[in-house]
Amino acid sequence: VGIGPGTEAWRSPEVTRMISASTDLVGYSLYLDLIEDISKGKVRHDYDLGREEDRVRRAMELSGEGKSVALVCSGDAGIYAMATLVFELIDNGGLSDAARRIEIAVSPGISALQAAAARAGAPLGHDFCTISLSDLLTPWAAIQKRVKAAAEGDFVIAFYNPVSKRRRTQLAYARDVLLEHRPADTPVILATNLGRPEEKVRAVPLSGLEVDDVDMLTIVVVGSSDTRMVKTGDGKTWVYTPRGYSAKEGTGIESQERAAS
Ligand SMILES: C[S@@+](CC[C@H](N)C(=O)[O-])C[C@H]1O[C@@H](n2cnc3c(N)ncnc32)[C@H](O)[C@@H]1O
Repeated sequence: VGIGPGTEAWRSPEVTRMISASTDLVGYSLYLDLIEDISKGKVRHDYDLGREEDRVRRAMELSGEGKSVALVCSGDAGIYAMATLVFELIDNGGLSDAARRIEIAVSPGISALQAAAARAGAPLGHDFCTISLSDLLTPWAAIQKRVKAAAEGDFVIAFYNPVSKRRRTQLAYARDVLLEHRPADTPVILATNLGRPEEKVRAVPLSGLEVDDVDMLTIVVVGSSDTRMVKTGDGKTWVYTPRGYSAKEGTGIESQERAAS
């Protein structure tokens, strides 16, 4: 299950039902703490960050023993999260027969990029992509290739796992590549601890994106060359990306207008 970014209001009723119906909860301690309101009487199997394969294997073996297990992820369970590992383990072997035969259900959650977008306005109004900057499981050369392709394609980009204590150079690399393709004042949203009491959301220009302003509980959303800021009557500044239908050269609407005139 994906429990959303944090607040109970952003957790789906189906996920709440599935957690409530389970006997055992398996997950990273921070995420299990976030669902304490519906955890009474359930056995908690806490894990530290990392050790994902151990976590998922344990959840599946418990399920094979007849327990009803909620494997708890933040955001969406299938976006850089544990649902994938369930299928990898079934595919690659190494499980007991009972664990291979368990019944599986995947329930979606609000991912960090949707929460960040909603807080900031509507930056995902046109084509976007996500890139994880973690090189734990992906070779750095592959990440560099994707950053370059997304920069050339002028996608809005949501960077997951932007930094860690050890990983300090990747986000600066991405910023420098993006600066070759979009304006220095392109809005960048830094959204930290979304849906949690410590939530912090701010917008900076692309040229002012600094690694030290970002931590591992932050998602970084970089606008496309069309993304802009707008001030509303209450003095608040929002970030949005136009849908791109505004009679631009080469669009269907523009050619219809040309034909009509
Ligand atoms: C392993 S990924 C998990 C993503 C998660 N499954 C989702 O759909 O949001 C962890 C990264 O997601 C982002 N993230 C997850 N929860 C967040 C939150 N509440 N606020 C800001 N960023 C978050 C951060 O970039 C973090 O480094």
